[in-house]
Amino acid sequence: MKVFVTGVGGQLGHDVINELVKRGHACVGSDLAPEYSGISDGTAVTTAPYVQLDITDSQAVSRVIEETAPDVIIHCAAWTAVDLAEDEDKIAKVRAINVGGTENIARACRKIDAKMIYLSTDYVFNGQGTTPWEPDCKDYQPLNVYGKTKLDGELAVSSLLEKYFIVRIAWVFGANGNNFIKTMLNVGKTHGTLRVVNDQIGTPTYTFDLAVLLCDMAESSKYGYYHATNEGGYISWYDFTKEIFRQAVELGHTEYSEDRLTVLPVTTAEYGLSKAARPFNSRLDKSKLAANGFSPLPTWQDALHRYLMQYPF
Ligand SMILES: NC(=O)c1ccc[n+]([C@@H]2O[C@H](COP(=O)([O-])OP(=O)(O)OC[C@H]3O[C@@H](n4cnc5c(N)ncnc54)[C@H](OP(=O)(O)O)[C@@H]3O)[C@@H](O)[C@H]2O)c1
Repeated sequence: MKVFVTGVGGQLGHDVINELVKRGHACVGSDLAPEYSGISDGTAVTTAPYVQLDITDSQAVSRVIEETAPDVIIHCAAWTAVDLAEDEDKIAKVRAINVGGTENIARACRKIDAKMIYLSTDYVFNGQGTTPWEPDCKDYQPLNVYGKTKLDGELAVSSLLEKYFIVRIAWVFGANGNNFIKTMLNVGKTHGTLRVVNDQIGTPTYTFDLAVLLCDMAESSKYGYYHATNEGGYISWYDFTKEIFRQAVELGHTEYSEDRLTVLPVTTAEYGLSKAARPFNSRLDKSKLAANGFSPLPTWQDALHRYLMQYPF
């Protein structure tokens, strides 16, 4: 199987290429930069075939995809800076990447009859209530520009293709890029007290684990909408932070112990306004994965442990 992956300079694309190579699939990675620009960790992605591609350039997309002729495209590239996306002068660009770019990829898939895997987000929902969102729920009501554009990307994929997976994920962390864990470990070193939101509820997604699932999907034809985060239960950002520091202390980093560092739970309102509104209820129902024969991801606690062990801090 030959797989084309967009966004390999980001968190998820990096791990997807590594998983594809591990399985012996031919793959080509792409991103905006002239050459692979992620971390130099010596993994397969750093030397795998790579092509520079701006997904907003429709002609370049169709040329590169037709030349590459993949069986599957795993589309990880996106504008992901949620607050910046709210700026008046950025909205057109965010839309061009998340909607126009996705549409270009979907059209190219249609032309060569390739499967497409599109990564989306819990932000397509309004975050009301406490019931986990089911993957086939159509009650879309994004609260911010990023969510709206990711939803319109979904609609482009579903209207142009039949052989597609739309996989919604949330609270992503991976080795290649900035993430919440790195931020907390950094600010935990320089602050005695941290205030962390405890009324936004969801589950983290470790890109290393998600990459395994996406490759399983690429090898299958069980198309449709899916939700995929790690298992281990729904938590708040506050709960996540407490567990990050608990595991860090367990690994010998006593600078994060409770007698040195206090973590205070605060509401979103107490924390103060961010530019983009965020959903309170980001619980994603993942039961469709097992129902369709896919293995659920490991627990987020286990994922966090492996991440902290692998990437010393
Ligand atoms: N991160 C999360 O918490 C989260 C949550 C839910 C869903 N998702 C979705 O999951 C997917 C993967 O996310 P991620 O965290 O791996 O994203 P990421 O780390 O931000 O990587 C995205 C990559 O896409 C590239 N890109 C941006 N514009 C492009 C363009 N015009 N042409 C080609 N490449 C372009 C970016 O390059 P530059 O860095 O140079 O712009 C970056 O390397 C995305 O679809 C995202 O929407 C992410």
